[in-house]
Amino acid sequence: MQHSDQSGKQQSSQAPGSLAERAVAAGVAFTKDVAAARALRSPEGVEALRLSYLGRKGQVTALLEDLRTCSKEDRPAAGKAVNVLKQSIEREIEALKGEAGAWLVAAKLAATPLDIHLPVEPWVPQGSLHPVTLIRREILGEFRRMGFTVYDGPEIDYDFYNFSSLNMPADHPARDMQDTFYISEQEHLLLRTHTSNIQIHCLLNEKPPLRIVAPGRVFRVDSDPTHTPMFHQVEAFVIDRGITFAHMKGTIDAFMKAVFGSSMKTRLRPSFFPFVEPGAELDLQCVHCSGKGCRLCKQTGWLEVGGCGMIHPNVFEAVDYDSDAYTGFAFGFGIDRMAMLKYKLDDLRTLFEGSHDFLGHFPIFT
Ligand code: DAH
Repeated sequence: MQHSDQSGKQQSSQAPGSLAERAVAAGVAFTKDVAAARALRSPEGVEALRLSYLGRKGQVTALLEDLRTCSKEDRPAAGKAVNVLKQSIEREIEALKGEAGAWLVAAKLAATPLDIHLPVEPWVPQGSLHPVTLIRREILGEFRRMGFTVYDGPEIDYDFYNFSSLNMPADHPARDMQDTFYISEQEHLLLRTHTSNIQIHCLLNEKPPLRIVAPGRVFRVDSDPTHTPMFHQVEAFVIDRGITFAHMKGTIDAFMKAVFGSSMKTRLRPSFFPFVEPGAELDLQCVHCSGKGCRLCKQTGWLEVGGCGMIHPNVFEAVDYDSDAYTGFAFGFGIDRMAMLKYKLDDLRTLFEGSHDFLGHFPIFT
């Protein structure tokens, strides 16, 4: 098709320099520029590309402006060509912008070392320490302050350590008080019923003077509101030349005052434990009524928390200690019971049910 331009010269619409031609050329150039921008993966490059075609001084804008000066005959074809070009460039630029977002993320990931940690979300509950852990830490802290060393022993142990060396030979009636989980009666293996077994392990491995505190899990066939088949105890003992009952009484009293406050009172009542002589039951003034008498202490004003006494000479003999040269005291009490008294809980079993509602009341740190 021939037509005349404004100057009256004859010109082909397909001839170089015609609007439609320039639109096609711009399209070809744009395709190349897009390939270059993709190779650079630069979001700024995409924006520069957009400006150079669609911006105020861009090629497409110039073509659109030139449409105004185009001859009437050429205008529809040229207008269509420029508009098709404009739309396809717009579409392509939008697509590139989407890709540019991914280039940014990829560049950031490549520049920073991979962090596999989940971000801390403020609404995620922080958790807290279990009350038994809290009280155990406090108990051990007080004993350390008094110069004691923490000692550990096995939860699965031989009859020898748990019973016979502690002056409880087979068939001794005192064994009935500790209904035992046996693992193998043939091999005399059992779940320890108390932390007193640690005394024997320690005495066989160490030499006096000894000032030991030994916490741990213990097991008995027992289950009601104040007994669970697994519970926690602490054993403490001191062995040296010239250790007396008075040392024991003073140590127990100082310890309980440290945990429950300086007005706390303790009381010893004569009692029988095969591994001590003399032996005593250890009572704490009732934490609920401060000794006045209430339901918790069955109107006595006192709560039983453990046992104590002077280590029996038969125990020393079982581990080859010279019972003429050395004396010592030992005491043991339940950690869970201490937690119940300190945190005023009325059912021991709540300690081991794993309820978030209950455990969430305790602090994270001591
Ligand atoms: N082992 C005893 C129990 O679990 C508690 C005990 C009593 C420990 C008297 C002692 C002690 O060290 O002297 O029932």
